[in-house]
Amino acid sequence: MCGIVAYIGKKEAFPILIKGLSRLEYRGYDSAGIALLDSGELNLYKKQGKVANLVEFTNGKNIHGNVGIGHTRWATHGEPNDVNAHPHYSMDKRIAVIHNGIIENYDTIREELIKRGYVFKSQTDTEALVHLIDDIQKTEKVELIEAVRHALQSVIGAYALVVISKDHPNQLIAARKSSPLVVGIGEDNSEFYLASDATPIVEYTNQVVYLNDEEIAVVDVNEGLRITNIANQEKTPYIQELELHLEALEKGGYEHFMMKEIFEQPRSIHDCFRGRLNAAEGFVQLGGLKDYEKRLLNAKRIVFVACGTSWHACQVAEYLIEDLARINVEVEYASEFRYRNPIISEKDVVIAVSQSGETADTLAALELAKARGASIFGICNVVGSSISRITDAGSYTHAGPEIGVASTKAFTAQVTVLTLLALRLAYKKETLSNSRFRSLLTELEAIPEKVKRVLDKNELIKEIAAHYKDSANALYLGRGSSFPVALEGALKLKEISYIHAEGYPAAEMKHGPIALIDEDMPVFVIATKGTSYEKVVSNIQEVKARKGKIIAIVTEGDTQVKEMADHVIEIPATDEHLVPLIATIPLQILSYHIALMRGCNVDQPRNLAKSVTVE
Ligand code: AGP
Ligand code: GLU
Repeated sequence: MCGIVAYIGKKEAFPILIKGLSRLEYRGYDSAGIALLDSGELNLYKKQGKVANLVEFTNGKNIHGNVGIGHTRWATHGEPNDVNAHPHYSMDKRIAVIHNGIIENYDTIREELIKRGYVFKSQTDTEALVHLIDDIQKTEKVELIEAVRHALQSVIGAYALVVISKDHPNQLIAARKSSPLVVGIGEDNSEFYLASDATPIVEYTNQVVYLNDEEIAVVDVNEGLRITNIANQEKTPYIQELELHLEALEKGGYEHFMMKEIFEQPRSIHDCFRGRLNAAEGFVQLGGLKDYEKRLLNAKRIVFVACGTSWHACQVAEYLIEDLARINVEVEYASEFRYRNPIISEKDVVIAVSQSGETADTLAALELAKARGASIFGICNVVGSSISRITDAGSYTHAGPEIGVASTKAFTAQVTVLTLLALRLAYKKETLSNSRFRSLLTELEAIPEKVKRVLDKNELIKEIAAHYKDSANALYLGRGSSFPVALEGALKLKEISYIHAEGYPAAEMKHGPIALIDEDMPVFVIATKGTSYEKVVSNIQEVKARKGKIIAIVTEGDTQVKEMADHVIEIPATDEHLVPLIATIPLQILSYHIALMRGCNVDQPRNLAKSVTVE
């Protein structure tokens, strides 16, 4: 995963790099490091742990330089320690490299270089790259850019990287393949920023270029930006205007990004359907998919590929699209799909759902589907992300930047887009009566208001959280489209509080998990009014008979479950198909408070990273 940032220009690079690294910390926080060129010397500072450790380590040191690179790491090769932290030096300390990705053939390269006298300091795959560049430059006697190009020609794997060299104080060299990299163009075309995403760049410039796979960029204070590919063909930089706002990246008065993002959901859901839905006129449309609608309508089946929370959103879509539009849907873990030799043909439509748009497994699944002739679409949150660029068409979720590692507003935005898609397809296929179609549109428009009413229950939910903060395990149950909500609730709890939690279809409990129920087992149940309400009530009875604790999400005014449950959280009534958009909210808030009460870092949980750009 890892975040990379670099600067070259007239300003002091150090503060720009530190600030950029803090913004990119969501991508990994095993270590942080920087390298700066100052008066002909290439100085390197790196430290295990968060950016704060690096700041403490550099405190009081006289750090200067107008050109520098910075890295925040999520380790793949070699444990998180000072030595394995990036940047990595060449042996003569002439060159330093930062890298996001995995060099899969690093072992072969490393062995070869060791034979040639290179001494490795770290266990990382990245160090093989810096020595390889150095070796090529020395043996082939070529310019640094050519050495980088030749090195990348012999590398297998994924990379976004930046190379700094004391022989070239006026330039930085960057390249990407399967890991993201953005170039920010600053003042007078003589100042440049490089980063894994636009967040470190946004306050300095809104002119950016997203590098494509196998492109190499040279940013030079005198000669500007030049892009070639690894086959040495010249490329014309496509300059885009950033629409990201700085305020959207700050915590806005909340203690944590996660809470800020949970509370943003009335707005993010609204932003997601704004312009795409008008209940009064009976109008629903996804502009990005308009030209490809026929393919969707004629598809033999729609296959969703995704990971984690995004996979849960796809599960909700399966219930919606199959029921409302009567199209066969399959939901696949991208990581399994890509290695399963799946049966895919040109009659299939494959849709990737991804907050970051950079998840390596999801990208690879899409490439496989494309190679087998399927139409590929994307539903992403990050504008300009890799998935959004390689797909035939797609829709953005417009949730705004999500910084908390645990996905919250991105999930509800994904479910909103997928609901719009289901409704649009149902409309075109005429699988719904006009009154049912209209009523679903009206209900969807009312969701932001209803989400607000659930957010008002924050204090009540916090009190409930206090009862269960010391639990070792938890079960989450739901039926129909509330089953994926149960899965998502369990994922949220485990990833930020480290409590072991499982989500199950409520009726599945009796086939095994019921053996776990005793007085120490909290069972969170989505028991809202709808087709399977009575069945869920029976499942609750089964838990109570075994002394389990029930925390139920119920429809406002419910009396039946209230009598049985230890705690209830009432949510506003809505159409059964839209319950996931509301029922998810109290589960997010519960996880947040439980994690906080356990002293966990909710925004940056251990071992995780926001965007998983490695396999
Ligand atoms: C969500 O809380 C997770 N941290 C994680 O499961 C995430 O949803 C998954 O890695 C997929 O990411 P993407 O949506 O950016 O593709
Ligand atoms: N493979 C590199 C390392 O372990 C970079 C990791 C990454 O980008 O996730 O240091």
